[in-house]
Amino acid sequence: MDESGLTRTDLGLFLELNKQDPSLPAYRRLFLALRQLILNHRIDGGTRLPATRSLASALKISRNTVKSAYELLQAEGYIYTRTGAGCFVAELPKAVQGGEPSVGMPQPERTQQGGWVSPGPGLLQPGIPALDHFPYRRWQRAMQKSVSSAGLLAGDPQGDLRLRQEIVRWLGAQRGMPVDANQVLITSGSQQGIYLAANQLVRAGDRVLLERPGFPGSERVFKAVGAQIDYFHQQDLDGVDRLGKARLMLLTPSRNFPLGHTLSADRRLALLNWAQQNDLWLLEDDYDSEFAAGPALSAMYSLDAHERVIYAGTFSRTLFPGLRLGYLVLPLALVQGFLQTRRVIDGGLSLPAQIALAEFMACGDYGRHLRRMKRLYQQRRQVLERLIAASALDGLALVDAGGGMNLCLQLPASLNDQALEKLLALEGVSVRALSGYDPQQSRGLVVGFTAQDRDAMSHGVAILERVLGPLLATGQS
Ligand SMILES: Cc1ncc(COP(=O)(O)O)c(C=O)c1O
Repeated sequence: MDESGLTRTDLGLFLELNKQDPSLPAYRRLFLALRQLILNHRIDGGTRLPATRSLASALKISRNTVKSAYELLQAEGYIYTRTGAGCFVAELPKAVQGGEPSVGMPQPERTQQGGWVSPGPGLLQPGIPALDHFPYRRWQRAMQKSVSSAGLLAGDPQGDLRLRQEIVRWLGAQRGMPVDANQVLITSGSQQGIYLAANQLVRAGDRVLLERPGFPGSERVFKAVGAQIDYFHQQDLDGVDRLGKARLMLLTPSRNFPLGHTLSADRRLALLNWAQQNDLWLLEDDYDSEFAAGPALSAMYSLDAHERVIYAGTFSRTLFPGLRLGYLVLPLALVQGFLQTRRVIDGGLSLPAQIALAEFMACGDYGRHLRRMKRLYQQRRQVLERLIAASALDGLALVDAGGGMNLCLQLPASLNDQALEKLLALEGVSVRALSGYDPQQSRGLVVGFTAQDRDAMSHGVAILERVLGPLLATGQS
């Protein structure tokens, strides 16, 4: 027992010290270990800490290390000193005690080399590009060009002008959209674009129509702004008048998510007329039409003669989701209002990433990459379809429209696809339940085929077969 009345074992200090990152300086590890004990209430408020000399000799570390750790604890208010009497643990309010990190979102893991890595995609996870075929060198080249003094200052809140010009060129050539760079607002992805539109155009209580099946992130946005939400399916658009009056309609006319079907030209035109007559905003979420089967279809925006359409695009699927860049194309009259909201929620986006992306597009790397990915995804889709056909899942119908980044396997109505999603996740397979995108939709699994090669997909299908096979035989889950 030392002079404070605390033994080394009482402190649990060795245990806590061992948990700390060995690459940190010794004083920092001791600080973190002691702080953890204080936050967990394993050392009570008012307790005197061991004198620096005795703790240093007990832990076989230098006295300066202990002094530095105590100084930091004192600076942050975990301990205080009483002249001539030593260091004492502060009385902390209950709320800050028990300071373990919260669990919830998957946490990045520490590698053996001490770096941080995000968890990789699960097997057959939808919506993840082929990162094993990403042109890393070409992207690095573009990133290198972005590191200049110009890229170190805060940029235009509407987004880097050269990037907006490249997007305009791309949309004109690929999507038939006549757009001016002043109409483009760079976002941190479609999710932010949808939020900006909701914030600017929808007031609490306004009626909003969301497409089903659809991306749950959009529903969260409109709930957050207090909209009254109703749902429609693409087939309901045969009689648009029956949908009733609304402020805004969110739709994916080029490729429904996750089924992939497309809104026909007559329905698009009827919708545009109806929007014009009823003062309705159409928010076109064009999340992955680059990978449509066959040539890219014109965007609904390109048919709009009355400025009722707001177009949301993203680079999450064409490049990589961690890029966090997308864009809105807006009627000019709306741009200033959207910029005002942008000034409230952020000070603009990271400029080097925008400069790099503009460079990547300008030198043709973006177009080349997409052409390669479109071919690769068609091959990977065929691989997956063959693997499924050769498995016990052979009898399940495919309910998708071809192309894209995922297909959907229809399940018998007796199977609970959400329970299956959870069960499969435990086995490392990240397919999604179709009913998660539309509770009324028939049960199914949304299966990605873009993220992995044949071997990984074959492994994923073998797990699907092992888990699903017996359930299909008995019709239970
Ligand atoms: C249909 C759809 N819209 C929007 C988004 C949001 O994409 P972003 O990563 O650009 O925010 C997603 C993401 O998966 C999506 O599937």
